[in-house]
Amino acid sequence: MRVLFVTSECLPYVKTGGLGDVAGALPAALRAEQVDVRLLLPGYPGVLERLEGVKVLRDLRGLPGLASQAPARLLVGRGVDGAPVYALDVPSFFGRKGNPYLGPDGKDWSDNHLRFAALGRTAALIGLDGDGARGRGAWVPDVVHGHDWQAGLAAAHLVHPMWPYGGAKRPGTVFTIHNMAFQGLFPPDVLPQLGLPWDAYTPNGLEFHSRVGFLKAGLVYSDRLTTVSPTYATEIQGETMGFGLDGLLRARAAVLEGILNGIDTDSWDSAGDPHIVSHYDGTNLEAKTPNKAELQRAFGLTPDIHAPLFGIVSRLTDQKGIDLVVEALPHLVEKGAQVAVLGTGSAALEQALAGAARRFPGRVGLVLGYDEALSHRLQAGVDVLMVPSRFEPCGLTQMYALRYGSLPLVARVGGLADTVTDVTEDSLADGTATGFTFAPVTVPALLAATDRALNLHRRTELWRQVQRNAMGRDVSWAASARHYVATYRAAMEAAGR
Ligand code: ADP
Ligand code: GLC
Repeated sequence: MRVLFVTSECLPYVKTGGLGDVAGALPAALRAEQVDVRLLLPGYPGVLERLEGVKVLRDLRGLPGLASQAPARLLVGRGVDGAPVYALDVPSFFGRKGNPYLGPDGKDWSDNHLRFAALGRTAALIGLDGDGARGRGAWVPDVVHGHDWQAGLAAAHLVHPMWPYGGAKRPGTVFTIHNMAFQGLFPPDVLPQLGLPWDAYTPNGLEFHSRVGFLKAGLVYSDRLTTVSPTYATEIQGETMGFGLDGLLRARAAVLEGILNGIDTDSWDSAGDPHIVSHYDGTNLEAKTPNKAELQRAFGLTPDIHAPLFGIVSRLTDQKGIDLVVEALPHLVEKGAQVAVLGTGSAALEQALAGAARRFPGRVGLVLGYDEALSHRLQAGVDVLMVPSRFEPCGLTQMYALRYGSLPLVARVGGLADTVTDVTEDSLADGTATGFTFAPVTVPALLAATDRALNLHRRTELWRQVQRNAMGRDVSWAASARHYVATYRAAMEAAGR
């Protein structure tokens, strides 16, 4: 089975969030299931500089849907893991350093619709030769698997009659929603530049409240839909978390599944992580302590291995509930806790956290910025990792925390609810307790959970037991990779392959 992964992020080439981790790790798990996965990525500098043995497959200049006469080529090279990677090399679109979606002013690039229309258009071309026939000897995907709005138009191009798949049966299409909050909405006058016909611009097609919706296109035109946790798959069919697309998702519920993300258990391994100062596993948890001492130094916290240390690694946005933490900080500090925050995002939240760090020196430590190595050190060093998100399709940091015996304290939403088992008398007794969950997502509920964590932290033996439960929890990709294979089969069947 051949699967083309279409994504705008993938570790180690480019990452702004969890999509990068997922695209970086899931292909390897699929290969273990005998799936032949190849990636199609935008030709960002971070991609082009890492590919080896690059060949030009096709000149795409002037192709409808690329909306430009500027140089545009489809390249293929060997990726960091040796597997072939396709790159859409359009320097005028992707040859920009920094964040893939935002300019230096922090605002979306004004041509994002063109940049990601080109990505979707190209995805639909892979395996075809110049005149749209099935390329002889070419690698032809059985399934095109798009991720998030940036890949949303791939399925539209594959199924829309304006672009028949060269007489050959088109690939099956799978579309994965990583976040309903990012929809790729643009004014209707961009449509002629996308290479899709006006008759696709209807409420049953690309139109979403008088705009063109890239995410919506993925949801409408794909054979199968998935999202990244079972609970989120249910939540997005309701009004609060459906962001206006809940009706469409209810209508397509029969082809929508939640497949829980896993994590890369080689990169996130407390027993071998090269970023941390002391390695440990469930049998020598005392060896976790030097990581805590090192983290206290790194975040300017008072050296005290007994002070309960809470941490956060996150985008600083409304989704992540960071404002709740800001409100909760005085209470936590009063109870003797320390808090370390690594993040970057909204200016208002950055300022609020910086204010708290000034107000509570030695108790609240803040590093503003994006730092992969420090995120590993934080995961290993903290006692509790907080994720108080208002919504969370899956969330990865709580799973990293589980692996490091740092107990997650999370809002009971989306994938957080599916991956963390609250400490209760029952879950302690049956050995399933792995952390602390709270609902609703309010400051009082958060504080009630932090109080429970602080109480358990005083009971060293019980704490250790929960740490061991957490570290023993299966957070690998194996089961989910098998689930994706079944979904790919269903998509191929839907496409008549
Ligand atoms: P989302 O994709 O919504 O941001 P996830 O929990 O799925 O949330 O993934 C976030 C990823 O980004 C994790 O790998 C996390 O460790 C990483 N991350 C977030 N903020 C930072 C940061 N400031 N520095 C380093 N890594 C970060
Ligand atoms: C999104 C979600 C996050 C999820 C990630 C990877 O960024 O916000 O919850 O873990 O995608 O699927």
